[in-house]
Amino acid sequence: MIVCHCNGVSDRTIRRVAREGSASVADVGFACGAGTCCGGCIDAIRQIIHSESSGRKDAPAPNAPAIAASA
Ligand code: FES
Repeated sequence: MIVCHCNGVSDRTIRRVAREGSASVADVGFACGAGTCCGGCIDAIRQIIHSESSGRKDAPAPNAPAIAASA
């Protein structure tokens, strides 16, 4: 799926550069160009970086609301 439409960068490419060490939106932009034009994809890039860094593809974004534990 294309995440960065300005530069035609897919989620697979962003995941790959994140696994290879890109730890920030700026790093990803330097590695593959994603997020370097209009910025409309930056939230999605941030979520992918977080997902890859946590080792879970379904991990919530850092700013996702916490789910209350049922007691
Ligand atoms: S959609 Fe990624 S920079 Fe515009």
